[in-house]
Amino acid sequence: MNKDLTVSIVGNGYVGLTTAAVLSNVGYKVYTVDIDKSKIETIKSGKSYFFETGLDNFVKKGINSGNLIPTLSYKEAIPKSDVIFSCVGTPDKDDGSSNLEFIFAAAKESAKYAKDGLIYVQKSTVPVGTGRNVIEAIQEENPNLRFSYVSNPEFLSEGSALFDTLNMDRIVVGSDDKESVEIVVKIFRNANKFAQDIDLDRYKDYAGFYSSKETKSSKTDFEDRIVRTGLESAELVKVSANAFLALKISFANSIAKLADKVGADITEVMNGVGADHRIGRSFLYAGLGWGGGCFPKDVSGLIAIAKEHGLDMPIMTSAIDENSSMINFVTSKVKKHTTPNKNNTVAILGLSFKPGTSDIRRSQSIKLANKLVSMGYSVQACDPKARKEAKKTLDDRVIVFKSLEECVKGVSVVVLATEWKEFLRLDWKVVKDLMEGNVLVDGRNRLDKEKLENMGFRYEGVGR
Ligand code: UDX
Repeated sequence: MNKDLTVSIVGNGYVGLTTAAVLSNVGYKVYTVDIDKSKIETIKSGKSYFFETGLDNFVKKGINSGNLIPTLSYKEAIPKSDVIFSCVGTPDKDDGSSNLEFIFAAAKESAKYAKDGLIYVQKSTVPVGTGRNVIEAIQEENPNLRFSYVSNPEFLSEGSALFDTLNMDRIVVGSDDKESVEIVVKIFRNANKFAQDIDLDRYKDYAGFYSSKETKSSKTDFEDRIVRTGLESAELVKVSANAFLALKISFANSIAKLADKVGADITEVMNGVGADHRIGRSFLYAGLGWGGGCFPKDVSGLIAIAKEHGLDMPIMTSAIDENSSMINFVTSKVKKHTTPNKNNTVAILGLSFKPGTSDIRRSQSIKLANKLVSMGYSVQACDPKARKEAKKTLDDRVIVFKSLEECVKGVSVVVLATEWKEFLRLDWKVVKDLMEGNVLVDGRNRLDKEKLENMGFRYEGVGR
């Protein structure tokens, strides 16, 4: 394996830090650059500053081997780097478009110190057309620099970030420069070879959680997973893929509401629909809806860029509306059995936007908790990993417990809002004995309805 290349990762979020940790373990020298001092200090100490299964261990090994070098200084990292992966954030603005401030700041700062022959790889999700503007910004900053630009969108999911990076489902690489594309592909080919000797099952906790099929094995057909495209196409792949997945979920949720009315079971319906290989079962799990750092931002980003080009995307605005409506839909299930007042306490299980992560961005569970408290219920909540983060956006009136037992004690209603495995494996008989009421709202359709009803719960699902 040729690991002579030195790599810089700019931006240490879920994508940046996971990529840096993996590539440094593969054997590359990786500078990981960030402007946030506390993040860099935590990484230096051999830990991740957010929770992802297995990541701490990879960071620690990277640091101990000397291959992973966290730094606040572009000046230290960039002059030595052959390849830069830009992994900075692109938060959305109030109008739904992406804030590209960090994209251009990272590119310009890198351009100042870059050496000739640099390959600048954009991993951050950016609106289509951004790449050409970044190329111009680099040229403006450093007119004599010889460099190439590659778009390489990231598809890892939170909760299985390490697994996904070690076992990439697909690698999309778009550029005008074919040679650079092959160099980037080679880096991931080396990562894939490295992953062959790893027991990936250890990191698989939530991999493929929204799919009925087994995730691809790292041991087969790596070459078939490479999708080589033009620059603009690669940029558009990322947002289109996320928008389509969000659409699938919202579609399942629309049908779930109808299933509810007609006495059908949405899980059975989607098992039947998803068995058609043209459709597939993945991302047809009805429930409280989608959140996180990607889907909401990418869907509104797509609408915004389409608008810039004079196009409407009613299909995507409907997906957003459908998603927002799920909070009221689940709230109505609580209200069906209880009156919103202080004497009725609702316990919310799960606060992160999905299981396996401490990320609470655009979490539907938090929106639900805040909604219920504003209606007059007493609300208490718990989560295995996201308590600290959640408190930042939860209504002050929501009480957060560390222990599940305390959280469900004496409550009228329990809502499963984020489907952590800890909750799926619960002894519900014990929960029921601790509760005062017997209403169980399965906001993620992951529990055994019949079994729970036999235990004496009044079970409410989303379309079942
Ligand atoms: C997503 C994409 O899947 C990933 O490829 C991309 O790189 C980043 O965005 P992520 O945001 O980590 O990943 O989570 P994902 O697993 O896609 O789930 C997103 C949201 O949809 C979660 O809130 C989840 O609870 C919800 N969801 C997912 C459903 O409600 N039903 C489903 O069937 C699938």
